[in-house]
Amino acid sequence: MEWPLLDADQPTPSLIVSAEIARQNIAAMQQYCDLHRLRLRPHTKTHKSIAMAKWQIEAGAAGLTVAKVGEAEKMSGASKDLLLAYPAIGPARVKRLVALARDNAVQVAVDSEAAMEILQSAAREAGVRLGILVDVDVGFHRTGIVDPSAAIALCQHVSHQSHLTFEGLMCFPGHIVPDSSNDLWSNYEQSLGGIIDSLHRSGIEAKTISGGSTPTANQSHRNKFLNEIRPGTYIYNDWNEVRLGVCQIEQCAGRVLATVVSVPERNKFIVDAGSKTLSSDRNARDPDSGFGYVVEYPTAKIGRLSEEHGEVIIPSDQQEQYKPPRVGDRVWIIPNHICVCVNLQSEFYLLEHGKLTLMPVDARGQLI
Ligand SMILES: Cc1ncc(COP(=O)(O)O)c(C=O)c1O
Repeated sequence: MEWPLLDADQPTPSLIVSAEIARQNIAAMQQYCDLHRLRLRPHTKTHKSIAMAKWQIEAGAAGLTVAKVGEAEKMSGASKDLLLAYPAIGPARVKRLVALARDNAVQVAVDSEAAMEILQSAAREAGVRLGILVDVDVGFHRTGIVDPSAAIALCQHVSHQSHLTFEGLMCFPGHIVPDSSNDLWSNYEQSLGGIIDSLHRSGIEAKTISGGSTPTANQSHRNKFLNEIRPGTYIYNDWNEVRLGVCQIEQCAGRVLATVVSVPERNKFIVDAGSKTLSSDRNARDPDSGFGYVVEYPTAKIGRLSEEHGEVIIPSDQQEQYKPPRVGDRVWIIPNHICVCVNLQSEFYLLEHGKLTLMPVDARGQLI
């Protein structure tokens, strides 16, 4: 797809999403999941948009994943089947979660007896039932139970609670990227397999085995236990995913349109997209490579960000290959981390058939 030269009065900085590329990304992931009989439960933290979630559901997604209860409330406008893939700790969170479970099928990930007890008592008080996935660490070492026997014990306890239904296991393989070793993949598989077998022997079926991130998504068939995946970033992709070898630039659906507001030196220009637009996230693969990719100046580096300024440096031996930047020029930037970039904007522009439509970032800033 060609990114058009937008009308000069298009305000900047603005986040622009190509409907064509986003739809292609949605379709490709759904096709992969259908081929491998995996349920797709996209993580909506990337787009935070009810409209985008509806596209994913219409394409065949089984339900949606969220990290925040506020996101779940918004996303219930797109699907009634919601997974909170985050510990529901704290009364403010739990109260809203059980209220949501009155009209929605709500599942929650837990990795502690404490979390389970909080949910059981809140669900009982509210007269609702919650589905539970026990979160298992498969090597990313964030949340998730490390010790398999502790994971098995928690699954057993969950299955004895009056207002909780044990649904299965959840994990996040955030440490695995396209060029990871076979060992990492087999550890990922084995750490689930041992628990599933033990549960089976004790008469408990883990119906759902939910894994997946964008970098592992289309390799999920390498872990035979998975029957659900939760990629989020894939809908838009970003410069992180390009650098990891997960996608091509052409598959990045979200770009920031920025204006050159100053050219203080021959090899340096300032754009009106700083950390409040692009986010301060560094590139995961190459932290010194700057704060995003400038499409018109592919070898330049966004070397420094202030809140409202992005400083772009053109390497001095490469100036000749570029048109000299001028104040008022506009450039396209592919952010390092699109999920955080989206959450910084109240609105985005959807680019469809050459036309722009202003869309809300519905779940923006939902932190509870
Ligand atoms: C629990 C969980 N599931 C799924 C995802 C989606 O992964 P990705 O951002 O690689 O698409 C994330 C991302 O942070 C996550 O934390």
